[in-house]
Amino acid sequence: MHVAILGATGAVGRTFLEVLEQRNFPVAELTLLASERSVGKVIEWRGRKITVRAPEPGCFRGVDVALFSAGGARSLEWAPRAAEEGAIVVDNSSAWRMDPEVPLVVPEVNPDAAANRPKGIIANPNCSTIQVVVALKALENASPLKNVVMTTFQSVSGAGETGKAALDRELRGETGDTPFSRTIAGNVIPQIGKFDGEGWTEEELKMVYEPRKILSLPKLDLAPTCVRVPVEIGHSVEMMVEQERPLSRDEAIEALSAMPGIVVSAAAEKFPTPLEVAGRDEVFVGRIRRDIHRPNVLHLWVVADNLRKGAATNAVQIAGLLG
Ligand SMILES: NC(=O)c1ccc[n+]([C@@H]2O[C@H](COP(=O)([O-])OP(=O)(O)OC[C@H]3O[C@@H](n4cnc5c(N)ncnc54)[C@H](OP(=O)(O)O)[C@@H]3O)[C@@H](O)[C@H]2O)c1
Repeated sequence: MHVAILGATGAVGRTFLEVLEQRNFPVAELTLLASERSVGKVIEWRGRKITVRAPEPGCFRGVDVALFSAGGARSLEWAPRAAEEGAIVVDNSSAWRMDPEVPLVVPEVNPDAAANRPKGIIANPNCSTIQVVVALKALENASPLKNVVMTTFQSVSGAGETGKAALDRELRGETGDTPFSRTIAGNVIPQIGKFDGEGWTEEELKMVYEPRKILSLPKLDLAPTCVRVPVEIGHSVEMMVEQERPLSRDEAIEALSAMPGIVVSAAAEKFPTPLEVAGRDEVFVGRIRRDIHRPNVLHLWVVADNLRKGAATNAVQIAGLLG
């Protein structure tokens, strides 16, 4: 397969290179694309030395799958061109996710959606959304979902290389460019993306609308609060899930354990943390407990590596569905 990566020098792009290698993805040819700043850089992959180029008309001819992680503006510009040149685009940005003609896919949840792609583009969901919908689908299989309240604890790598660099710099006591609205070292910031007129952030709205599309539950009530924390890699989410029928703790553990791609920590003290799951491809679920007051409400703690399952791994899994 001829694979291209647009955004190959970024946090997600470099994770693509690792994931393609580790999963032994059948790559016959690899094209690496980034901004003009990176043109001429040489990246070594599986013993091959590949020179980074900037995207230009014609560069996707002969490409089977184009993995995009270069931000929404580049996706809007280059995804239709890449599709026109014959590539199937798997896009990590938010640019195409809510387009009704673009499937939004998490392979454990809605793999069949990937087959219907009239624009030749498949969207990879938001990083926190991915880990949340894997857990929600497992619970929905046991009893219909009624509503979900959740708080995220999102790592700085979710804001790319500049996010990681900002935390490193602040930890050294230095200042400089930051994608965050406040100091992140030693802090927590309840803002990811811009606020709308009602006080919701862009990230929170993604976590309302994307799960509805992926789960085919257009009326599901979701209330997220998204928080940036000074963690390098790995997003954690505290979820409160109300269902039609009360599930016992054991039933919930059973439903979650039956879902491919989930690792369940049934023992309370074995809860997952971002430091422990960084580098892993699964979604980790712990702290599973029934609400004290409402028997049909469960609480869970869901952790995943945002650069892997939240981005590169999920996209490579989608590419694997294309056959
Ligand atoms: N980080 C995450 O956890 C995560 C998760 C899910 C989705 N995403 C999405 O994935 C995308 C990339 O995120 P990231 O975290 O990898 O960001 P990043 O570390 O800032 O990397 C951005 C990449 O885009 C390239 N780029 C920038 N401007 C370009 C241009 N004009 N033409 C071509 N390439 C250009 C950069 O190339 P240079 O190195 O040459 O500047 C770099 O390779 C974003 O849309 C983000 O929302 C990120």
